[in-house]
Amino acid sequence: PSTTPSSAPLRHFLVDTDLTAAEQAEVLDLAQAMKADRYLHRPLAGPQTGIVFFDKTSTRTRVSFAAGIADLGGQPLIVNPGEAQLGHKESIADTAQVLSRMVSVIVWRTYAQAGLEEMAEHATVPVVNALSDDYHPCQLLADLLTVREHKGRTEGLVMTYLGDAANNMANSYLLAGVTAGMHVRVTGPSGYLPDAAVVAAAEARAAETGGSVLVTTDAAQALDGADVVVTDTWISMGQEEEKEARQTLFRDYAVDAQAMAKAAPDAVFLHCLPAYRGLEVSAEVIDGPQSVVFDEAENRLHAQKALMAWLLYRSGLATAPATT
Ligand code: CP
Ligand code: NVA
Repeated sequence: PSTTPSSAPLRHFLVDTDLTAAEQAEVLDLAQAMKADRYLHRPLAGPQTGIVFFDKTSTRTRVSFAAGIADLGGQPLIVNPGEAQLGHKESIADTAQVLSRMVSVIVWRTYAQAGLEEMAEHATVPVVNALSDDYHPCQLLADLLTVREHKGRTEGLVMTYLGDAANNMANSYLLAGVTAGMHVRVTGPSGYLPDAAVVAAAEARAAETGGSVLVTTDAAQALDGADVVVTDTWISMGQEEEKEARQTLFRDYAVDAQAMAKAAPDAVFLHCLPAYRGLEVSAEVIDGPQSVVFDEAENRLHAQKALMAWLLYRSGLATAPATT
């Protein structure tokens, strides 16, 4: 597949802003069509192989990419932490070139964003970020699809993220949320707020879409009238040594019934999962009527199938989906 002649520029998905607002909408439209008709488009029929590398553990990402690549007609190859030469004996650049001769898409969950950038620089097939320390853009496609389903739109809605506002999910909520025309509010304790560079990138994108950005330590202000309330674990993968401190650090930013009462009465609650009931979210909220977390988890499958199909098509490596 890497030798398919193509004049189209190779497309990757390493950070939420790799898709313009119009492109993100195209992927979400395609995801909705592919959710309605699971085998609508099979660009990996052959079957071609999609490789999915994990440097960190996973349930949803592993299964949604494996099932998704199979649904697209392809064959998934899952590589668990420590199984490949990558990261031990072989450079990212060499790995990218070898894989590109054999597979049609490279999906990678890793630590450093710079590693993904290096992989993309040397690959001749699309590279997809399946979570890094900095971003989780595939998760956001699923979240936005879920918001569309429950609210009918994303534009103009207020989405509030509470908790560890310096982590990958907070960054991706900011960037993908404003790309979808949302008013994104992010709140957490001082010292755990997004980097200025991420906020600036989100503000620049918001200026194009009519969205907006608010970063504050005031949870009540951030929650006021929100349409969508989101949180994430306080202890991300790689932060296990800080576990004890982190279990109390974000206490004022937990999503419980009191917090939900500050949002709009018809607000929905999202969480990328895995969740820790009694820490970042109460059982009452995540297991209650406003929670849409299992729709959100399912939507990983539909959103990523659409993303892979779209990247292959836009890179000149596959035919257009029937709906495009
Ligand atoms: N939300 C998410 O990415 O879950 P996993 O870590 O189980 O893949
Ligand atoms: N912030 C979390 C997300 C897990 C899907 C982590 O990086 O572990």
